[in-house]
Amino acid sequence: MAERLHLDQQAQGFFEGLWQQGDHWEFESSDFEQQRYTRLLALLAGRRYPRVLELGCGAGTLTRQLAPIADHIVALDISPTAIARARTLSIGPASVDFRQANVMEYNPQTEGPWDLILLSDTMCYLGWLYSCFDVGWLASQLFAATRVGGHCLFANAMGEFGDMLLLPWLVRTYRDLLYNVGYVRETEEIFQGTKHGVRIEVLMTLCVKK
Ligand SMILES: C[S@@+](CC[C@H](N)C(=O)[O-])C[C@H]1O[C@@H](n2cnc3c(N)ncnc32)[C@H](O)[C@@H]1O
Repeated sequence: MAERLHLDQQAQGFFEGLWQQGDHWEFESSDFEQQRYTRLLALLAGRRYPRVLELGCGAGTLTRQLAPIADHIVALDISPTAIARARTLSIGPASVDFRQANVMEYNPQTEGPWDLILLSDTMCYLGWLYSCFDVGWLASQLFAATRVGGHCLFANAMGEFGDMLLLPWLVRTYRDLLYNVGYVRETEEIFQGTKHGVRIEVLMTLCVKK
């Protein structure tokens, strides 16, 4: 229990520290990130998603782009600074509830069922700090909280460029967790781009609860 509290504090301290310095990942300004969002939205195109849960929304850059295809979005991030920044966005017709929360302490079933759950570059950080059991448990809770016919969009950067959190076999293991808890693959692609001169792949998987 004390160990879990320590992890939660470590997670909040680390990500809050990054967001206090600004847009660390350059979500707003990087061409790579904008192209990544465009591909993610293309995977979601052709449907409306009445109730959306986004885990690790940062300052809401992707959330804003999701708004035209959603009715209501709950977007969670552990960093108070990121959430404060997200709340300043003008979002269009969808209602968006930006909330400071640790997704590992959030029960997605309380407010479910969800038509779409998004994990965009979030899983690698959960797997960094939390145990395999805890991340697997979260995946099972997400599945339980998804409406039958609803979707989960998983996306994570990966590559062999020195960031151990993004090793391809590890990222594919996170993706496989979603299959193991019951989601079925609808479509998958590997987006490729360059950021700061480094070639990066992003595994993008849209899965469904049948
Ligand atoms: C790489 S950013 C991705 C942001 C956004 N999903 C996107 O693709 O633009 C990862 C985000 O996850 C958040 N995060 C990390 N661990 C978290 C946790 N346990 N609970 C909630 N948010 C978390 C970080 O604060 C950060 O904003």
